[in-house]
Amino acid sequence: MKARDLLQQVTGLNLTEAVVGRAVERRMQAIALADALAYERLLATSAQELSALTELVVVPESWMFRDAEAFVAATAFIVRRLDASAARALRILSVPCAGGEEPYSMAMSLQSAGVASADVAIDAVDLSQVALARARAGRYTRNAFRGRHLDFRDRFFTAVDAEYQICEEIRAQVTFSHANLLDPAFSSRPGYYDVIFCRNLLIYFDDPTVAAAIASLARLLADDGILFAGYAEVPAFCRNGFAALRAPGAFALEKTGAHAAWPARLPARQHVRPARPLVATPAPPAATAPATRGLRVTAPVAAQLVMRTAPADLLARARRQADLGDLQGAAAACRELLAADPDSADAYFILGMVSECEQKMDAAGHYWRRCVYLKPDHYDALCHLALLAEQSGDQAQASAFKQRAARIYQRGNGNGNGDTSDSAPRKALR
Ligand SMILES: C[S@@+](CC[C@H](N)C(=O)[O-])C[C@H]1O[C@@H](n2cnc3c(N)ncnc32)[C@H](O)[C@@H]1O
Repeated sequence: MKARDLLQQVTGLNLTEAVVGRAVERRMQAIALADALAYERLLATSAQELSALTELVVVPESWMFRDAEAFVAATAFIVRRLDASAARALRILSVPCAGGEEPYSMAMSLQSAGVASADVAIDAVDLSQVALARARAGRYTRNAFRGRHLDFRDRFFTAVDAEYQICEEIRAQVTFSHANLLDPAFSSRPGYYDVIFCRNLLIYFDDPTVAAAIASLARLLADDGILFAGYAEVPAFCRNGFAALRAPGAFALEKTGAHAAWPARLPARQHVRPARPLVATPAPPAATAPATRGLRVTAPVAAQLVMRTAPADLLARARRQADLGDLQGAAAACRELLAADPDSADAYFILGMVSECEQKMDAAGHYWRRCVYLKPDHYDALCHLALLAEQSGDQAQASAFKQRAARIYQRGNGNGNGDTSDSAPRKALR
C-alpha cells in the first residue's frame, strides 16, 4: 500500500501527496534509505517506522485555554453535576490532547473553581507519542501561552530556564494514554464520559471518517453528557447526531434527543461565582438558590480569561450565533459589522460559512473570495475556496488556492508541522 493510503487508513488524516512526500523524504534521510520502494516495504512491515512517519504528518498544535469559553462552560457543568449527584467522580476525556494543554487547562479551571481532585478524573489521549511525552513532562515554551492575561501561569507554573513547568498538583490530575480515536477499541466503554473535548481534529478528516469518529465519541459520551468541539466542527456534529447547546463561544453539544444536564435545564446554582456571570445563565433568585456543597468559591481562571478577553464585538457575536446554529443571527451580526467596517475579512469568511451551511455554494464562494481579496493570507478562506473549486471540478483553480494556502502555512510554521490560526488549517491542503 502507498504511504499516503496507509497513513490515511491509520490516522484518518486526509493528506496530500505533497505532505506525505515530504514526510517520507525526511524519514528516508533519517534512516539513510535511498530506495523509495524499499521504504514502502519497510513501512508496510514496521509499526515503528509507521509511527515515526505519522509523527511527521500530525499537527500537535495547541495552547493553554485555547477557546477559553469551553473551559468556563465545562467547569460550570461539572460543578452543577457534582452538586446534583456526588455518587461518583465525573469523567472527562480530552481527545486529541496534543501536548496536554487542553486537559491541563481543564484541570486548572476546575481547581480554581474549588472542585476537589477526587471528584473528577481527566483522561487525555493522542495518537502522537511525541506530543504525549511533552504532555507527561508538563513543560512548555512561551508558545503555549498565547493570551494577554497570563495570571494562571504565575499560579500553576514555575519558570525553568526559558520554559514553564506545570505544578505537580495539576500534572497529577491528568492520565495520558496513547490511542487512536478511529480504533474500534477506543469506544469500548459506552457512556463512560460525562464531558468530552474533541476539538480541532475532525477538520483534518474526510466526511466518512468524521462520521465514524463522531459515532465513536457518541458511544463514549453518557446520554446526559456534553461534548466540546472546535467551532468549525460544530456543523459536522450537528449532521451526525448531536445538537448545539446554548453556551456562547463554547461550542458545546449534546446527543440529539438526549438531555445533557446543562445549566439551562438544571435548577440554577452558582457555586462558581465570578464577579460576573460565568456563562450566560440567569442568576437564581437568592431565596431559591440551594445551599452549596461547600466548594471553595473563587472565580475560575477560565472565567477570568473569558471575561477579560471575550471580544464584545460583532465578530464574536457572529461566531457565537453560528455556534448556536442561528445562521441568520450570525449573518445579521456580520452585516452589522460590515456596515461599520466594510473591510472585515473575517465577517466575509463567516458569511461564507453560513452560506455553505445553507448549501448556497455560489454565495459561499463569493464571500470567501471577498475575504481573501481583503486579506490575501486568510488561510481558512483559501482552504475553503480550494475545496469548493475541487468540488466543482476546477482542478487548476483548486491547485492554485492550495498552493497559496500551503505558502501561508509554511510561513507560519518553520517546520511545516503546526497550525497557524485559532481555527486550525486543514493540513490536507498543503
Ligand atoms: C491540532 S491538535 C488538537 C489539540 C487540542 N484538542 C486543541 O484543540 O488544541 C490535533 C491532534 O490530533 C492528533 N491526532 C491525529 N489523528 C488522530 C487520531 N486518529 N486519533 C487520536 N489523535 C489524533 C494529533 O497527534 C494532534 O496532536
